[in-house]
Amino acid sequence: MQQTPVERSAADKERSKRPRESSFSAENWDLLSRFWHPIVYGSDLGAKPLPIRLLDQRLVVYRAGRRVVVANDVCIHRGAPLSRGWIADETLVCPYHGLRFDGSGRCVAIPPAGPVAHIPPKLRLTTYPVAERYGIVWTCLSPEPLAPLPEWPGMEQMNLQKVKLAPADWDCSAFRHVENFNDVAHFSFVHAGTFGDPTAPIVARYDVAPSANGLRRSMPVNQVDRDSFGKGSDQTTVMEYDYDYTLPFNSSLVISSPDGRDEYIYDAVCPVSSAKSRIFI
Ligand code: FES
Ligand SMILES: [Fe+2]
Repeated sequence: MQQTPVERSAADKERSKRPRESSFSAENWDLLSRFWHPIVYGSDLGAKPLPIRLLDQRLVVYRAGRRVVVANDVCIHRGAPLSRGWIADETLVCPYHGLRFDGSGRCVAIPPAGPVAHIPPKLRLTTYPVAERYGIVWTCLSPEPLAPLPEWPGMEQMNLQKVKLAPADWDCSAFRHVENFNDVAHFSFVHAGTFGDPTAPIVARYDVAPSANGLRRSMPVNQVDRDSFGKGSDQTTVMEYDYDYTLPFNSSLVISSPDGRDEYIYDAVCPVSSAKSRIFI
């Protein structure tokens, strides 16, 4: 029997929650929506709700007391963007008619209706799983993530110098950014003048080993003793680079130097759209 248009649209809705204006293919969106993604540093989440875009989905993220909530950035009443609202008494207040939502996304006050006796429990925001790890708030657009959050034991090792920068927006896909972070062949060209050695462009052979949710590899890299600002000398040192890549867009890197001044860098990428990425490094 043929489906009516209404039945067809209900079935489509069931199949994919991909936003109508999404720049991803349906296949990519459906797959990526089932992974954890970094969306904001916990320290940047203060007294105001923040607008976030993940896989073209507009989200609001807010703290309600101790809980962090990630929800669709659209009020269930008349569609106002909740990220333009504010926090009061550990609830998110919609800027249009003042409906309030608690730390579970449930509506707990409807000011224009007065102190109503009963607010139906189903009056709630569409919320998503949230986790805070390594100072980053992560979310997943599916209730059942396909893989766990990345494990970066180096973050707890006191002997490793950590690198932390403000989030950066790149005009490229998350796939392209991950390639770049894991690519050492560009050092001699793009980073000539700082740590890249223009006289040693050949990449040493290395092995790649699968890990639980990604890949690991180690390799020697000839590095000029200059920092990213060019300070230092022209002397070169062979460093050991240990990369640990975790699906879908997360990497960590330990750079070990012979003098024991080892560095730890992580690189977590939020796929904002198919052509924009927010980098947490
Ligand atoms: S649109 Fe949010 S309270 Fe009316
Ligand atoms: Fe008005």
